Amino acid sequence: MTTDILVIGSGISGLTYAIKIAEQHPDLQLILIAKDELRETNTRYAQGGIAVVSDFKQDSFEKHIQDTLIAGDGLCDSEVVKFVIEEGQERLRELQDWGTLFDTQQKELHLTKEGGHSEKRIVHYKDQTGLQIQEALIKKIQSFSNVRCLENHVLVDLITDHHTKTNHQKCYGAYVISKEKEEILTIGSKATILSTGGAGQLYNHTTNPYGATGDGLGAAYRARVKIEGLPYVQFHPTALVPKVNGSTFLISEAVRGEGAVLRNKKGTAFMASYDSRKDLAPRDVVARAIAQEMTATDAAFVHLDCQCIEKEKFQQHFPTIYDTCHHLEINVPKEPIPIAPAAHYFCGGIAVNAQSRSQLDGLYAIGECSYTGLHGANRLASNSLLESLVFAHRAALDSSTFVTTEALEDDFYEALPEWEGNPEVSVEKMKQMTVLKNRLRKVMTQYAGIFKADDDLNKAEQKLSAIYLETLELYQKLKLTPQFCELRNMVSVAYILIKQSQHIKTNQGTFYNADNA
Ligand code: SIN
Repeated sequence: MTTDILVIGSGISGLTYAIKIAEQHPDLQLILIAKDELRETNTRYAQGGIAVVSDFKQDSFEKHIQDTLIAGDGLCDSEVVKFVIEEGQERLRELQDWGTLFDTQQKELHLTKEGGHSEKRIVHYKDQTGLQIQEALIKKIQSFSNVRCLENHVLVDLITDHHTKTNHQKCYGAYVISKEKEEILTIGSKATILSTGGAGQLYNHTTNPYGATGDGLGAAYRARVKIEGLPYVQFHPTALVPKVNGSTFLISEAVRGEGAVLRNKKGTAFMASYDSRKDLAPRDVVARAIAQEMTATDAAFVHLDCQCIEKEKFQQHFPTIYDTCHHLEINVPKEPIPIAPAAHYFCGGIAVNAQSRSQLDGLYAIGECSYTGLHGANRLASNSLLESLVFAHRAALDSSTFVTTEALEDDFYEALPEWEGNPEVSVEKMKQMTVLKNRLRKVMTQYAGIFKADDDLNKAEQKLSAIYLETLELYQKLKLTPQFCELRNMVSVAYILIKQSQHIKTNQGTFYNADNA
């Protein structure tokens, strides 16, 4: 199969990019790969919203810039922060033009607040912002005849000189595997766009869906593309305890934005003793404070006291949270919600420039799998959907020129080699993959969570090396499957995260090593 542009990932980044190309370049052909159904993405689960300055009487670009820099704790690229924030409004308008709804009040956008924001500036649709965006973008993308969507296909590897035995130093597309038939397709493409999200599945407790196994990061690593900032993993302070249908359910930070207060086992509102911004301090501060309180009181959770929010308002703004809690017989807002931190967002990723280009020609990365410099050491709440919109736009401008001016001749992409793999299938050995995935999650949760230490990082490295060797042995013998691809990626991402962590000697934002303190 060949195409002009291959997009891997169907969340807000991939779909926004694809819509822009399809609309503005009807002459270009685009293939969009979704790991599951088009709608099953990380975007879909985003509750909070998009941080965009829109009330210029009260708010300003400068205030949003400052809040982002403060949350990022010295590691943001200030130029990137500036242009992302200044371009936000225009990108939001496009999203609305494509049919996305946001809550309004007296005909103005309703704005809410989250941790680290000095003003109310989060636009949202109830507590279902991501779902609303996902549905609108899917409807839009399906209206174009130059876009072909392949659902239920998993990225295997990027196609590079390693496969073609050439030396053009470009990306030529990707190998992907179908979940149904487990067949590996070769897709030749002049530009390849990774929008594959993060890797929350490296941890036992994550707000991310099952598909968040770092597929783009793993493939980029194997293609020797630069990856930066992986140790900066953001833990969301408030994930519901217990799990819901086996998954960790998010309690949006906007609930604290509307006044809810964290209390420990003894009923004490503890945040004032950690930070003057109390419950609305940036996420890294709040997550660490909760973890400390849990240890100090020997508890598996703390409470989110929502009593100050009127029932009707709660139901209207947070219908999903309301229903989920009531289903578990937690009578919100009257009764407090048991919560604990959970892995939520990878601030690091594939290093890209202001046009979303990676260091490998023809390869772009957008959204959580990328490292743009916006988030630094700790992402400001609701800045991620904003980043996706801005960088999807910039990538579309740059890559549409790339495919016509910098790519190779068509026949090169038509003659790419097929994937060479092993034919052996062993159900018994396949079962080992689940065991290895679970072992990896246990190692990362125990040794590379919110609090790290030198010894723990070394233990993690040793245990990951053993998991890597066992994975390699299976890989050298067995037929590749989608589950296998995930395991390979999880091992790669965990390994880079640990190796990069061992080199960090300053605690900033989400990264905290007790031996650096
Ligand atoms: C939330 O609703 O708390 C999540 C928003 C985000 O991660 O930016």
